[in-house]
Parts: sequence; structure tokens; C-alpha cells
Amino acid sequence: MKIYEEIKNALDISDIIGERVKLKRSGRGFMGLCPFHDEKTPSFHVFTDTQTYYCFGCQAAGDIFTFVMKTEGLSFSEALSLLAARAGIKLSQNERSNREKSLYEILDIAAKFFTGNLTGVQGGAARAYMRRRNLDENDIAKFSLGYSINSWDSLTNYLRKLGVKDRQLLDSGLSLPGNRGLYDRFRGRLMFPVKDIAGRVIAFGGRLIDGEGAKYINSPEGEIYSKRKNLYLLNEAKRFIKEKNRSILVEGYMDALRLHKNGFGEAAASLGTSLTAEQADLLARFSSRCYICYDSDSAGQNAALRGMYILSEHGLDVHVMNIPEGKDPDEFLSANSPKDFEKVIFQSVPLVLQQINTLAPALGKSETRKAATKELFENLSRLNINEISPYRSKLSELTMIPPTEIEKILLGDAQNLKINFVNNDEIFTRSYEILEAAFCAMLFNYPECRLSIEISEACEILEGELARDTALSILTENPDTLVSLWLSTGDTERNALIKRGEEFCRSLEGKNVAEKWKNLYGMLNTRRMKNLLSKIQMKMAQNNASPADLLKFFELKNKILN
Ligand code: UTP
Ligand code: MN
Repeated sequence: MKIYEEIKNALDISDIIGERVKLKRSGRGFMGLCPFHDEKTPSFHVFTDTQTYYCFGCQAAGDIFTFVMKTEGLSFSEALSLLAARAGIKLSQNERSNREKSLYEILDIAAKFFTGNLTGVQGGAARAYMRRRNLDENDIAKFSLGYSINSWDSLTNYLRKLGVKDRQLLDSGLSLPGNRGLYDRFRGRLMFPVKDIAGRVIAFGGRLIDGEGAKYINSPEGEIYSKRKNLYLLNEAKRFIKEKNRSILVEGYMDALRLHKNGFGEAAASLGTSLTAEQADLLARFSSRCYICYDSDSAGQNAALRGMYILSEHGLDVHVMNIPEGKDPDEFLSANSPKDFEKVIFQSVPLVLQQINTLAPALGKSETRKAATKELFENLSRLNINEISPYRSKLSELTMIPPTEIEKILLGDAQNLKINFVNNDEIFTRSYEILEAAFCAMLFNYPECRLSIEISEACEILEGELARDTALSILTENPDTLVSLWLSTGDTERNALIKRGEEFCRSLEGKNVAEKWKNLYGMLNTRRMKNLLSKIQMKMAQNNASPADLLKFFELKNKILN
């Protein structure tokens, strides 16, 4: 009898599968929820007479070997030795030796090696670091923490002795190629193993405990580790997420760990990278409610928001927590109680409101309002209108767009959106400052430009103080003598403004002076009209607009559109 038949006969498939899948008796075997695809009603069948399984939903089929290989991520020979051990059957030397260790096994051995270091004689400095960071002995086992000692090749050598080949050492990300052979990637660091949702170690993060170097070093992406498909501590968190019907997403290893230590087992960490669709799907399996708790001084507020939109688009109900005083969750919980943290959760805001609040400062300034409004609506258009509706009046207040218009925009009136926010992209992306300088330069250089404009109009069109003063003196004095006048009074600012403007004019696309002038004048005048328009719109929103205002409103709207 072949060895695998012997093993098959000695084991019962329903026992093996029953450890992973909740099975119910049915017909000539058992049935349960398929472990190979997502389903709510069971279509996964186990047949005891043939010792096979079959899923009517996804057509997965096989025997104990394929089941163990697929669910544990093992090679055939690994599954063979695992099941042989289960069955109490000894494999011959030959059957054992041709089997190679899988990357999972190697990483698991490494994790245990690191833990051994941390608890052993060489772990003193790392244990002292743990104490400084308020971590205790129990955390070592709870989070499988470890220590990579400060040596070039202790792990590499250890794994080699166990028969791990150089190719596998490199593939596992544990060793790096050097001039004198392979050496350890992680040295002198507190080690955090990253596990996949099935609980297998797939990567490590290593925190520097003293000296110089990157604060954290992480395993590279590879055959079994993909950053975008995993979340740190999700394996432990999943049952709490289900139980509490909420997840808490944090940035760092220490943040997730600290939350778990403080009774927030529903926390998982994205490890400093932007959130992905895959992570959203992972989380959504356990609960659709998600609290995001990133550092408030986080370098990329915008990057963080982008990630939240991805979660939202994948069906998660995203709430944003704002921890006071720019602390990260770890720091907050080191100084405050879990109750205080629960308060911060309670005060979290839905993504819509977080987006509005983030842009509120820019919406409050006339120079940035337009661009901010455009960004705001572009982002909000990714959300469900039902989520935004409660904030209509707040949106109107901040953007100075009347509620009725807001309504149209929210309802996806594309044409309306275009008129207000897209058509004039060119203007938004150019800095007005340089346009004003160019305007002055043309006034300065060309009599025909000077003749084409009234002083009062030039003053209305220019908002920058320096540009306005410069234009005013050009229009009221003899330009030929101005430069020497400015030089004699030490006024280099105006000269510099003109120089900058001239440079920009040279880069303008118009073929001749008249064309360039028309372009420049047009852009600045449109801005003036739009500013006027938003002032009237604000009045309209407050029911304060006079009939004259309304007339002006339509006149301006027509002009801007043409
Ligand atoms: P932070 O810089 O916020 O660190 O990076 P932290 O989590 O607060 O770490 P402690 O408290 O100082 O120990 C957040 C996350 O970004 C990744 C890590 O995953 C880290 O947990 N990171 C940061 C790196 O991968 N490398 C680095 O050098 C820094
Ligand atoms: Mn921290």
C-alpha cells in the first residue's frame, strides 16, 4: 500500500475537516459553510464513504491531503508528514528527506527563535526596552514577541543548520545577500510577527531598541507576504470585531498592541501604508463598522482620507477618531484610561464630516475657497448621498453655495458640477500671483495694454497689494521713468514683480501681444466676477439678496459661462 493510502485509511476526513469547518450531519456525510469561498448557506459537503469533499458553490473538491494543503498552505510532502504524524505513522528516511520546508514553516521557526532570544540570556536589553514601553512578560506569549540579537548571522546560521537552503532564506526575507554571503535582515530589534488571518506568521516588523537606524524594518513583500492583503493583529482581532460589531484601525504595531492590552481586542494596524480594497474586504467579513484612529499629526492627512474613501467604497461605515494633542493611540493609552479612549471613540465623526472639517480652513479663505470647494465635492461624490444629506446646510455655509445648488450637486447634476468646478480648471491650477505679475508686466511694456483699461478696473481685477500699487503707478506715471524712479527709491520689489511677469509672459501660449493680453485679462476678470458671484450667492443663501443683486447674479453667470 502506498504511504498516502495508508494515512488516508488511518484518518477520518470528517475529523480533519471538522476542526476547521463546523459540520452538520447530512445524508451520506456532513455539510457546512465552505472554507474556500464566502457563503451564508452551506454548500460544502463531506462524504465519509469516499473520504472526499465537494462544494456545490465553488466546486472545490478533494481529499484530506488537498484540504490540508489548501487550508494550511502546505506542500504535498508537508501535508504528508503532518497527517502521518496525526495518524501515528512513521515516514521512512526517504519520504522525509525529499521534503523541503515551506516558507511558512521557516517563518514560524524564526518567530520561535526570536522569542527564545527575548526570554533567554541575550534578551536583557530587549526586556529592558519592553519595560520602558510598558510591556510585560505576558505580552511576549500573547503577541509572540521576540528579539533579533545584534549579530550578523545568528538566525541565518540557525536556519541553515536545520537544512534551510540559501534560496529559501532569501525568499523568506529573513536573510540578505552580502559580499561575504547571507546575513540577517533583522539585528538588534524587538520583533513583531505579522500573521495572516489564519494565524500563520508571514512577515516581521522589527523595532530598533537603541542606537542609529530606521525605527522599524519590515519583511519585504514576497511569495507569502503582501502588505495590501493583511492587517497586523487581525487574526486575534477578528473574533472581537464580530463580537463588538466594530473594528478599530490604527497605524502602528505598538498602537494595535496597546489597544489589545487595554481591552480593545478589535484593533488592527495597517502598518503605515495606505488602506486597500483587499483590507476593506477582510474587515467587512467581520463587521461593517470601522473606526479609524490615526495619528492626528499624521504626515499624510490626505493619504489617510484617501484610504478611508476606499474603505467606504467597499461597504464599510467609516468613522474617524481624533485623538487630542497629536498623540498616537499608544501614547494616549499610556497617559489615559480605556474609558477615556472609549470617549474618543464616542466623539468620532463620520467620514463626510471629517472631510468637511479637514477642508474647512481652506473654505474659509477667499483665495482658497474655490479650489477647496472643488476638492470637497469631488471627494464627496464618492460617498452615498444619504450620508452627505444631513450636512447640506453646513456645506452651504462653508462653500457659500446656496442650498438649492448644493442639492443639485449632490444629486449628481453633472452639468452643474462642470460649470462650477471643472470648466475653469486652468484658473485653479495657476497661481494668481504670477498672473497678476504678468498683467503688470504687460501694462508696463505695451502702451496698447495701458490704453485698453481704466485705472478703476485694473484695481478691481488685481487683488495682490503689490501688483495693484505697481499697476496704479504704471497707469498714472510715465513708465519710461518708472524703473529709474524705483531704483532711486530702492524699491526692488516692483522691479522684481515685473521681471517675474515678463518671464511668465514669454511662456504664455498666445501668439501676439493682443492675444496674450486677452488671455490674461480674461482669466483675472473671470476671477473677479466669480468672487462677486459668490458674495451674492452668500446673500442669497441668507435670503438677503436685493433685486439688484439677483439681476447682477444672472448677468455674471451669463458672462462667466461665455
Ligand atoms: P510611527 O512612526 O507612527 O511609529 O509609524 P509608531 O508606531 O508610533 O512606533 P513607536 O511607538 O515609536 O514604536 C507607524 C508605523 O509605520 C511603520 C511601522 O509599521 C509603524 O508601526 N514604520 C514607521 C515603518 O515601517 N518604518 C519606520 O521607520 C517607521
Ligand atoms: Mn508610537
